Amino acid sequence: MADTTPLPAGSSSPGSSHPGTLGRLHRLIRSNWISTLGAAVATVAAMGLVTTLALEGRQGWDSPYLGLLTVVLLPLVTLGGLLLIPFGLLLYRRQLAARIEALSDRPMRTARAVVMLTAVNFLAVGTAGYSGAEYLSSQQFCGKACHKIMWPEAEAARSSPHANVQCVQCHVGEGAQGFIHAKLNGVAQLLGTFRNDYHRPIPTPVEDLPPTKAICERCHSPRRYLGTKLVVKTHFEPNEKNTGFVNVLLMRRGGELPGGRVAGIHWHAHPSSTVEYLPGDVRRRTIPWVRARFPDGRVEVYAAEGFQSEPDSAQLRRMDCTDCHNRVGHQFATAEEVVDGAMATGLIPRHVPFIRKKAAEVLQQPWTREGAAAGIRAAVTKVLAGTAATPDELQRTAEALSSGWLRNNDPDRKLEWGSYPTFTAHDGCFRCHDNKHKNAKGEPIASKCSTCHVVLSERQENPAVLETLGIRPK
Ligand code: HEC
Ligand code: HEC
Ligand code: HEC
Ligand code: HEC
Ligand code: HEC
Repeated sequence: MADTTPLPAGSSSPGSSHPGTLGRLHRLIRSNWISTLGAAVATVAAMGLVTTLALEGRQGWDSPYLGLLTVVLLPLVTLGGLLLIPFGLLLYRRQLAARIEALSDRPMRTARAVVMLTAVNFLAVGTAGYSGAEYLSSQQFCGKACHKIMWPEAEAARSSPHANVQCVQCHVGEGAQGFIHAKLNGVAQLLGTFRNDYHRPIPTPVEDLPPTKAICERCHSPRRYLGTKLVVKTHFEPNEKNTGFVNVLLMRRGGELPGGRVAGIHWHAHPSSTVEYLPGDVRRRTIPWVRARFPDGRVEVYAAEGFQSEPDSAQLRRMDCTDCHNRVGHQFATAEEVVDGAMATGLIPRHVPFIRKKAAEVLQQPWTREGAAAGIRAAVTKVLAGTAATPDELQRTAEALSSGWLRNNDPDRKLEWGSYPTFTAHDGCFRCHDNKHKNAKGEPIASKCSTCHVVLSERQENPAVLETLGIRPK
């Protein structure tokens, strides 16, 4: 069937021996398998790119994996596919004429149908790629599928204020660079997991945690004035009566006041101040030397007693959010905190003499993950024997203690009580605010109680302040 009507440029006619530009291109591409493959690969990748970009628009750029896919991988694959086309033509140049001839009697309609159907396929590929990248960034993947060992962090993250923040939003920096860095590191971790020779406990600080400007500050402003915050902490004494007491504090969180003055605890992290320090050990639990640049430009150096030499600036670390909020993603409790919490909420009966002390001792025993529930139950049964505790109370006590133990311990990983101390409390602050870090004039870093908080009540059973505020501890 020969068609002699002139055609507009760019179009072609089915089976025409004088095809338009599109038709000619199509025949060239189909003239050898390498060019065909190249064209297919380029189209799949390009469609994938279009789809991921379109879908991503809805969500913002908060997945670094998606960033890598769209910014690096798909364009590279498209380019590779496009390069294969001329490569195939070059390789098969001898047979080119004959092959094009052979193709000329195949109807173009089939070709169009194939193109349409593949376009639908490509959309599917893009969607699959998108969901794949999303899955790779999900808490499920990080905490369970791949990082099986990290279940305690995943578990702790789920019950933290950041329950809906994905692991990668804190652990992977922005863009493709952050992603590649994290993945190279991930390969090493994966090898460690296979060989079962990874560090136990998993070391902190996480050396290559991105700077908090790239993680925390995407959601939190370091300038925001937070003012003061009322903190009420309920504890119980390890005595016969399990005497309850509360600490009531007004925390001076501070920030930038209207007018620009920077005050309170958050001054360390304000963009106009710089606090640099020399870590005394890899875990940053001790700090012998500090240099502070204040918002007014003044610079002060404070050194611990006996520490003389000025450290090499390469060893210094600039203080940021995680120097205090080190457990913000994954807070692990101490045995005492577990017991205090369960007593405050009434899960553990306070009328049992010495229960605070004995319950904490039960938690300190060297349980295994398999044996903990039964072992703790047996130990609690023994502790409660001969007391007025009911079977119901025994049940709740055993459950509260075993779930507390299981959440905070994993002997396989050497995760124990106190493995990861919290620096947003005295342990962290007193690394510097211990009255022993002094400047050249012998003045210490401010260490009065009221620098950080107003202590409204300390170790009192029924402080009047709670009455005044209308809050009564149970
Ligand atoms: C809100 C931010 C945030 C989120 C979300 C987060 N992390 Fe973390 N993670 C941290 C910080 C901060 C550290 C401690 C870093 C340091 O001290 O240098 C840390 C430490 C860790 C460590 C080292 C061991 C430890 O307990 O300190 C592991 C493993 C870890 N995170 C895994 C995860 C996994 C898995 C998820 C997701 C389920 C996750 N993280 C989600 C902020 C976060
Ligand atoms: C994706 C956004 C996001 C990122 C990233 C993020 N946060 Fe948050 N953070 C939140 C939100 C939202 C809340 C409030 C949760 C609530 O009140 O339930 C919060 C709560 C907090 C709180 C209050 C905790 C409490 O007990 O009330 C602190 C402290 C905090 N974030 C610090 C950090 C630090 C430090 C980092 C970086 C390591 C970080 N956040 C990263 C969104 C984020
Ligand atoms: C010098 C230590 C320190 C640094 C540095 C620091 N914080 Fe805080 N931050 C605190 C303390 C202490 C509190 C009061 C927490 C409390 O007592 O409950 C607090 C409170 C907060 C709160 C309010 C939640 C609450 O429980 O009161 C948020 C949100 C927060 N910090 C985020 C950040 C972010 C984001 C950064 C980094 C830009 C940062 N902090 C840097 C010590 C610090
Ligand atoms: C790396 C050392 C270091 C750590 C850790 C540290 N600080 Fe500071 N802090 C300083 C220095 C240096 C100053 C400035 C000197 C001064 O005010 O005497 C300061 C000043 C302060 C001030 C006074 C701000 C003002 O209004 O003038 C407060 C409040 C404060 N810190 C609270 C805390 C709290 C709370 C923690 C623990 C969560 C903490 N700091 C941890 C070094 C540190
Ligand atoms: C450098 C800052 C800083 C100084 C100085 C400081 N504290 Fe604190 N204090 C804190 C922080 C931070 C917390 C933790 C608040 C929280 O858990 O929300 C805290 C918590 C407490 C608590 C509650 C503990 C609990 O878990 O129940 C008491 C009580 C307390 N401080 C008393 C004092 C007294 C008394 C002094 C003076 C001798 C003092 N602090 C000096 C920062 C400081």
